Amino acid sequence: MAETLSIATGDKAGRYAELLPQLASLLEHEADLIACMANVSSALASTFGWHWVGFYRVAGKELVLGPFAGPLACTRIPFGRGVCGTAWAQNATQLVPDVDAFPGHIACSSLSRSEIVVLVRNGTGKVIAVLDVDASELAAFDAVDQQYLEQLAELFANKE
Ligand code: SME
Repeated sequence: MAETLSIATGDKAGRYAELLPQLASLLEHEADLIACMANVSSALASTFGWHWVGFYRVAGKELVLGPFAGPLACTRIPFGRGVCGTAWAQNATQLVPDVDAFPGHIACSSLSRSEIVVLVRNGTGKVIAVLDVDASELAAFDAVDQQYLEQLAELFANKE
């Protein structure tokens, strides 16, 4: 892929639909996991203007901060803690319309109001990372985000 994205200013689903094939092409041509995570973070942040987009990678019993776009973030999240650690422990996407109402939410930034976390799995189905997206508005994420971000996470299946 070229080092630029081509995204029309349509509605959210339209922008995801344009973005995904471009990211698929990008990931198809790059085997390095970190490089792929870095460009995906940048692409999502620039397409949707979210407050924070990034990856936490599984390292033993913790998640460790990986490539991201946005303000400084906490570096380690234990299994089962916060939204990210809960997604990992429950083996399920977490869609959080109001982070203040989520027990144990880890506030890396006081500007984050809503959040979605999806799992990134390798080819055998093992969770290798989570993709975490934060918005500064309440209820910024819905089933459309969940569907496309889960689809996007599947592009990493052959990276580790
Ligand atoms: N809010 C997350 C922590 C990571 S930051 O949002 C970047 C959580 O509760 O797991």
